[in-house]
Amino acid sequence: LHEPTIIVWSQEMVRHTLPKRKQESHKGSFGTALLLAGGPVMPGAALLAGLAALRSGVGKLEIGTSRETIRSIAHRTAEATYIPDALQNIANGSMPFSHYRAIACGPGTLPDAVTEAAVDTLLTAETPLLLDAGALSKRRYPERTAPLILTPHTGEFERISGFTQEEILQFPASCAHSFALEHHAAVVLKGPSTIIALPDGRVFQNSTGNSALAKGGTGDTLTGMILGMLTCHVRYEHAILNAVFLHGACADEFIKTRSAHTMLAHEISELLPFVWKSYE
Ligand code: APR
Ligand code: MG
Repeated sequence: LHEPTIIVWSQEMVRHTLPKRKQESHKGSFGTALLLAGGPVMPGAALLAGLAALRSGVGKLEIGTSRETIRSIAHRTAEATYIPDALQNIANGSMPFSHYRAIACGPGTLPDAVTEAAVDTLLTAETPLLLDAGALSKRRYPERTAPLILTPHTGEFERISGFTQEEILQFPASCAHSFALEHHAAVVLKGPSTIIALPDGRVFQNSTGNSALAKGGTGDTLTGMILGMLTCHVRYEHAILNAVFLHGACADEFIKTRSAHTMLAHEISELLPFVWKSYE
């Protein structure tokens, strides 16, 4: 395995690359994002990712999920609109999706045949696509012009890459780098020190975050943040790097005054407005 050069994504780089929200902008300036998330046993994943996306710069957010999940989350994501059974409809070819500015798929969805078929279809669109959790599987990713972003934690990366847990823990940057080059994808290998490997060979390390994030739901929040940031950044890699940085920075802000044991994933989205502002 080749040992890549690792660039630490710094506060200065964040300040330099966060987008300006132009005074004359309207909701169409940022486009519509599509979030495919949530299912019968994990409706909360759609809520957490949805809240995070809504706080991360989108013009409009559409959440594709089950009717049951819509009923259970809609009162907390009032700003979103909903597409019932979107995953099934994408899988069977009856739902257009090429007009979205960015698409994220996977938080809380089952890794079943419907999800697989939907991902196959989504990969054909020239739209930035993020795959997480239930949408991550061992497959060949086609070469495409629009960015493909995969956000596995160590266990998911083991499953999709074939690297062993030991290899990933010992050489995370090398494993992510080699996978990103082979599959033409940006890999966000999540952990206490998240690695971002780009398909052009560059490898970054995040410098924020703490053990308050070691808790179910924080990954769903990150997926929503990256999705939202994709719609307001010019360069997709800056959207990823700034989302990962700010996600950790929110957790760092939380533990200044509160115990790391007690943070809830949705509180990241509540802290984001203040933390983001501090880098503008
Ligand atoms: N320090 C800093 N950051 C951390 C730490 C830590 N000690 N532990 C976790 N994190 C960050 C990761 O970098 C990542 O951004 O928290 C986030 C956790 O994301 P996931 O592992 O995807 O967690 P999440 O999806 O919310 O919950 C676990 O994943 O495999 C599935 O079935 C599993 O439902 C479970 C879910
Ligand atoms: Mg996860």
